[in-house]
Amino acid sequence: MKVLVTGGLGFIGSHTVVELQNEGFEVVIIDNLSNSSEDVLVGIETITGKKPIFEKMDLRNKPDVQQFFAKHNNIDGVIHFAASKAVGESVENPLLYYENNLGVLVYMLQELTKQDKSNFIFSSSCTVYGQADKLPITEDAPVKPAESPYGNTKQVGEEIIKDTCNVNPQLAAIALRYFNPIGAHPTVEIGELPIGVPQNLLPYITQTGIGLREQLSVFGDDYPTEDGTCIRDYIHVVDVAKAHVVALKRLLDQKNEGNYEVFNLGTGKGSSVLEVIHSFEKVSGKNLNYKVVDRRPGDVIQAYADTKKANQVLGWKAQSTLDDSMKSAWDWELKLRS
Ligand SMILES: NC(=O)c1ccc[n+]([C@@H]2O[C@H](COP(=O)([O-])OP(=O)(O)OC[C@H]3O[C@@H](n4cnc5c(N)ncnc54)[C@H](O)[C@@H]3O)[C@@H](O)[C@H]2O)c1
Repeated sequence: MKVLVTGGLGFIGSHTVVELQNEGFEVVIIDNLSNSSEDVLVGIETITGKKPIFEKMDLRNKPDVQQFFAKHNNIDGVIHFAASKAVGESVENPLLYYENNLGVLVYMLQELTKQDKSNFIFSSSCTVYGQADKLPITEDAPVKPAESPYGNTKQVGEEIIKDTCNVNPQLAAIALRYFNPIGAHPTVEIGELPIGVPQNLLPYITQTGIGLREQLSVFGDDYPTEDGTCIRDYIHVVDVAKAHVVALKRLLDQKNEGNYEVFNLGTGKGSSVLEVIHSFEKVSGKNLNYKVVDRRPGDVIQAYADTKKANQVLGWKAQSTLDDSMKSAWDWELKLRS
C-alpha cells in the first residue's frame, strides 16, 4: 500500500511516516521544507531502516500537484499535514494562510476526486471548538467562530472536505482534531524543530530549560481553574502518529461509517500550565525560570478531549503520560543543543 504524506518532514508528519513504515506502508513524502529540513529523512531512516521517497515540492503550485498525481497513479491514501500553523503570523498575513491551508487543500481534493477510489486524512485542530460550553469536548460540540485566520482555515477546511465528500461517494475522508501534540520520538532521532521563537508552550519550556530563552511567561494565573492557569490536553506525538495509521486502515478496510468522519485526538486529561512546568522540573531535575504575567487576549481557559469516539469507534487510545511526553521533549532538546 502506497501512502502520500504531505508535510511529511514536519513535526507530526515525520512521526507518522515512521509509524506507517513500521506497519509496512510504502511512503511518498511531499514537503517544501518551509518549516522543516531534509535532515529529517536521515532520522526516519535511522529509526525504520527505510528511506521514504521524497519529492521537494510546493503544493501551492497547482501544475506540480497535477503532475505528481499523473506520475503516481497508484496512491492508496493521502495524509495531508502540509499547512502553515503559526496563529500570530496568520493574523499578520491571512492570505498566506488561506492560500497554503485552503488553496492547497482544494488542489489535492480536485486530484483525488478524479480517482475511482481515494482515501484522505486531514489535520484539523481542537481550535475549532474555541471555548467549549461543556468539558470534556465531544466531536458534536458546536464549532465556535474562529479566533484567527489559522483557526478559520481548519474550520473551512473541514467544510470543504465535507461538501466534497457529499457529492463524491468515491472519496472517503477523516478529519482528526488534534488537541496539543508534544514530545519527540523515544529514539530522539526526530522531534519538533521550531523555527525562531516557539509559539507553543512545550518547546518554549525546553528552550528556557536549556538556557536558550531567558524566561517563560505564564499568561495569567487568575483563571477559574484549580491553580488559576489555563488547561490543555497534551498528547504525545507518537500517539497522534499512530492514530493516523489506524484512521487510514479504517478507510482502506472500508470500515468507515459514511464517507466523512471526525475524531478527537487527545488523552482526555487536562493539564494546567503550572502542572506542565512541574512535569518539566520533575523529568529534567531543573528549576524552570518562569514568571506569571497578564492574561493573553484570545486564550481559551480550558480545552480537553472526550476521547470516547476515538477509543470505541476508531479503536485507538493515547498511551503516554504527560511525564513520558515531557521526558522525550527534554531528551530531544538536549540532543539538539549537544
Ligand atoms: N502541532 C500542533 O500543535 C498542531 C495542532 C493541531 C493541528 N495541527 C496541524 O497539523 C499539521 C501538521 O502540523 P505540524 O506541527 O507537524 O507542523 P509542521 O510545520 O512541523 O509541518 C508541516 C510541514 O508542511 C510543510 N509545508 C507547509 N506548506 C507546504 C506547501 N505549500 N507545500 C509543501 N509542504 C508544505 C512544512 O515544510 C512542514 O514540513 C498542520 O496542518 C497543522 O495545522 C498541528
